[in-house]
Amino acid sequence: MPHIVAEHARRATNTSPIMELRGVKQHYAIARPLPFAPKKIVRALDGVDLRVKPGSTLGIIGESGCGKSTLARILSGLEAPSEGEVLFEGVDINSLRGAEKRHMRQNIQLIFQDPYAALDPRMSIEQILSEPFEIHPGLVPESGRRRKVQELMELVGLNPDHLGRYPHNFSGGQQQRIGIARGIALNPKVLICDEAVSALDVSVRAQVVNLLQDLQQELGLSFVFIAHDLQIVRHISDEVATMYLGRIVEHGTFAQVYDHSEHPYTQALLSAAPELRQGNGTKRELIMLQGDPPSPLDPPPGCRFHTRCPIAQARCAQAEPTLDGVGEGHNARCFFPGPIPVRSA
Ligand SMILES: Nc1ncnc2c1ncn2[C@@H]1O[C@H](COP(=O)(O)OP(=O)(O)OP(=O)(O)O)[C@@H](O)[C@H]1O
Ligand SMILES: [Mg+2]
Repeated sequence: MPHIVAEHARRATNTSPIMELRGVKQHYAIARPLPFAPKKIVRALDGVDLRVKPGSTLGIIGESGCGKSTLARILSGLEAPSEGEVLFEGVDINSLRGAEKRHMRQNIQLIFQDPYAALDPRMSIEQILSEPFEIHPGLVPESGRRRKVQELMELVGLNPDHLGRYPHNFSGGQQQRIGIARGIALNPKVLICDEAVSALDVSVRAQVVNLLQDLQQELGLSFVFIAHDLQIVRHISDEVATMYLGRIVEHGTFAQVYDHSEHPYTQALLSAAPELRQGNGTKRELIMLQGDPPSPLDPPPGCRFHTRCPIAQARCAQAEPTLDGVGEGHNARCFFPGPIPVRSA
C-alpha cells in the first residue's frame, strides 16, 4: 500500500491535463425500418471539448439522454468516437496498439451503476479482485497477488477475511466497494464513475462517496463523476460541466457552475433540485422548462436549447453560440449569459 500511495503522490504534481477530448462526436446510425427509409443518425455527442486535470474531479450533469454515458464509454476507451480525439497523457488512446493499449486500459477504469450486475456471481471476491492481475500478468507476480488483494480489501474498508465469500453475501454498498476495489486494482490514474452511487441507499451513497474521496486523496486519482444527484456532484467535484443534447453548454469550478451559473439551462436544471434550491443561504427560483429535450436524431438549428429556453431571442434560433469565457476558467455556450431575470408573480 505505501508503494501505491507514493507512486500516486508523484503523479499528482503534474498539472497538464491527464485526459482531453478534442472535437469529439459520437454518431450512431439507427437501423432503417424499411430499406428505402432515410438513414437516421443519433448525435449522442456532437463536438465535445473537455479537459480532466490530474488528481481532481470533473462532475458531469445533464438530463437523461444528453450523452453522459456515451462520454464515459468514449473516455474509457470502450468505444472509439466517430470523430475527434481522446487524449490520455497527450496521446490519442484510439491510436494505441499492443502494450501501449494495455497500459492505457490499466490506467483508465470505468465503474458502473449496478454493482451486482458488474460482479460475476459465480466468482469469489478473491477471484474477482485477482482477475485484473491475470489480464495484466506483468504487474504483480503470482506469489504477491493474495497480499495485494488483501490490501485492496483494506483500502476500500472491507474485511480481508471475507475474500472467500461471493457477491451475494454482500450488501449493495459493500458490492460497490468491491467494484471500486477492482477498479483501482491496477493503480489507474483515471476513474470514471457513471452513476456509480445512484443505485445505493442515500446513507450508503454518502459512505461510498466518502470512500472515493479518501482514495482520491491517498492515490492521487482523477475522477470523472457522472450522477443525477446534483448535491453529490457538487460535493465531490472540483469542476463541473453541464451537458445538453450532446454538447457541453457550461463548464467551470463547482462554485461557478452551481452558485453563479451563466447558462440558462444550468440554472433551470439546478433550480429543479429541491435540495439545492435552499442551499448556501440563497433561494433559487424554480425555472420551469417546457417539454422534453428535443431528440438527438433531429437537434434544432441554432442554439440547441432555444426551443426550451426562457430567455431565447430570434438570434438563438439562427446561429449556434460557442462555448465562450464568461469568467476566469468559466465558459458558457450562450449569446445571453447571466442570471435569468426573476419574473414577479
Ligand atoms: N449504442 C447506441 N446506439 C444508438 N443510440 C445510442 C447508443 N448509445 C446511446 N444512444 C443514444 O444516445 C443518446 C445519449 O445516450 P446516453 O446513454 O449517453 O445518455 P445519458 O446522458 O447517459 O442518459 P441517462 O442520464 O439516462 O443515463 C440517447 O439518445 C441514446 O438513446
Ligand atoms: Mg447514462
